[in-house]
Amino acid sequence: YTLPVPQTSPKDKNSFAYASVVRRWPSIITNVIDAVYQSNALDKDASAEKLDDGKAIIQSLSKLRHEMGRDQALPPITDNDAASVNTYNAQLAELEKAGDNTWFTAPWLYAECYMYTRIRSYFSNSKFFQQFDPFKKSKDDTFKSSKVSVFQLAKAQEQLISGTTKPTHVDDSIEIMFLEMLQMCLWGNATDLSLLVDLDYADVQKLQAVGKKALEESFQKIIRNDIPQLWKYISTKRGGRIDFVLDNAGYELFTDFILADYIVNCTPFADSIVFHPKTIPWFVSDVLPADAPALLEQLLDAKAFFGEECAEVVALGQRWSKMFEQGVFKMSLPADYKLGSPSPSDFWCTAYSYPQMPEQAPELVSDFKQSNLVIFKGDLNYRKLTSDALWDPTTPFQTALGPLAGQFPLLSLRTNKADVIVGLEKEVAERMEKDHPDYRISGKFAVVSFDM
Ligand code: F6P
Ligand code: MG
Repeated sequence: YTLPVPQTSPKDKNSFAYASVVRRWPSIITNVIDAVYQSNALDKDASAEKLDDGKAIIQSLSKLRHEMGRDQALPPITDNDAASVNTYNAQLAELEKAGDNTWFTAPWLYAECYMYTRIRSYFSNSKFFQQFDPFKKSKDDTFKSSKVSVFQLAKAQEQLISGTTKPTHVDDSIEIMFLEMLQMCLWGNATDLSLLVDLDYADVQKLQAVGKKALEESFQKIIRNDIPQLWKYISTKRGGRIDFVLDNAGYELFTDFILADYIVNCTPFADSIVFHPKTIPWFVSDVLPADAPALLEQLLDAKAFFGEECAEVVALGQRWSKMFEQGVFKMSLPADYKLGSPSPSDFWCTAYSYPQMPEQAPELVSDFKQSNLVIFKGDLNYRKLTSDALWDPTTPFQTALGPLAGQFPLLSLRTNKADVIVGLEKEVAERMEKDHPDYRISGKFAVVSFDM
């Protein structure tokens, strides 16, 4: 599959891509350096060998940051374990032929995926840091500071679910509630740590607001909304499974579980849910297999984690743990998955866009054909669904999906945090361009796109 239009690139100095390479990525690398430094500093019993191991990683990271600032060529990745490395290097060779193989000339999506894979290679080549997640602490800290919304959602959820029996048919109340749940889960995507560099934390808390009024206001901010088409399809479904291609850990994962919990217990649309995490530390806050059990532990021990008692949060933790035990909720990778070991989920940490999925990961496509619906969470998944290309905003979503269109029913819940956007009415695109020129990247607007 070859893209009909060029991809987003930092060559355009007005793009968010450019701002990313200049500002956001160097600061992400600095944070990774800090995490390694802290890990060594806090480990009072660390051997000299371990301290040196950490220092070597820090050196490599500093070198990477330096290369970036100088717009140097991306070198091939040398790595022990990541299955995707060969793919990256082959793509890099192609970019080199075109002369687009430096930090400021490579397509933004490729370079960003490459960066996280490069970072991972330093850890996987190390002796003591092979399973180290440099973003773990920031994921936990941000989840902790989402306490207000977490408690509020937990209370509402317990009220909603306690004493209900799973319905066998659909009525208006399910339609209204389903819509609210989707929106709640959509805005859960606002809590993305790789953006915190840009958005201030108060903004993010505003975006997390979950009350009725907040939902009504945020409904206006969904500038392409396929929920009616989705409803027409999903309301006919009984039993079976729904998949989530996850995005961020912590608050967003919590909202994913809330929606999933609602679907299996309060609607007839599915009996089980499969969640797909990443295989290496990815785009700062993305879910790794270990993040799901960690979240359950945090809920079960709410007092210790959030610093305040909340019976409903604990009850959710208990119920969800049980749903995992019973296989109603399932992660596609086990919690003790060793980072970087080969798995069918490797595809999520390549630089491939999803129109390439039928060619590059046909087993995923056939698996998803068994699903009633595959929900793609967040901005990066949307960039990959649309090949991160410079489409005209009125291009139909189906056109952007290319060969993926019609393969399986899919829903994208995305708050807009990157240049690419499709599926807008002409009048909406023009109005946004005029009234909110930063609507593609501010994180304050969203799209809900459906294909089947
Ligand atoms: O930096 C690229 C980017 O896709 C941003 O557009 C976005 O802020 C972030 O990475 C990932 O967002 P999300 O967690 O919603 O995929
Ligand atoms: Mg993310």
